[in-house]
Amino acid sequence: MKRNEALALVEPHLRRERFEHTIRVTDTALELAKPYEGKLDTEAIELAGIFHDYAKYRNLHEMKRWIISNPLPKDLLDYHHELWHGPVGALLVEREIGIHQQDVLSAIRWHTTGKAKMSLTDKLIFLSDYIEPGRKFSGVEEVREAAAKSIDVACWMASRNTINFLMNRNQKIYPDTFHAYNDLSNEKDVIKWRENING
Ligand SMILES: [Fe+2]
Ligand SMILES: [Fe+2]
Repeated sequence: MKRNEALALVEPHLRRERFEHTIRVTDTALELAKPYEGKLDTEAIELAGIFHDYAKYRNLHEMKRWIISNPLPKDLLDYHHELWHGPVGALLVEREIGIHQQDVLSAIRWHTTGKAKMSLTDKLIFLSDYIEPGRKFSGVEEVREAAAKSIDVACWMASRNTINFLMNRNQKIYPDTFHAYNDLSNEKDVIKWRENING
């Protein structure tokens, strides 16, 4: 599927600012993918970027029904509904758009929480969603700088920041976010980064 065709399919489902965010996420992911050219399916990254927020504005009751009636983790319903649009999005992109590529669907599914053992494509979408140039929150600049050197360190920081953010607001944290953080903590670059900081 070509970029413009994909964008035209996603546009009616998003508000203007979310559509612009979608384009920035896609372009950020493609930029981060450049050093891995030849080792990565850039078309898969582009499609995952374009469709990652496909289900963002679906009706919450409908999303709940889809989670209940499909093979999706039921514990999602015990957490904030902001977490639903990733897994439900992967389901709907397959069903309504007819994309069956597992690497695309996986990156859509895990883009909000992350998980242990993310593929490079999963990581690039997870990270681009966090650092795309429209994101302004405190701490994002450190993650952008890290991303230029190590995707693993940047993903680790993003999951660390998300956990800190949620805890400071007394929010629950979905287990896969912890799994992402712990799993990334074992990556070579992250171990080195932590050793430098902790002395
Ligand atoms: Fe999202
Ligand atoms: Fe997003």
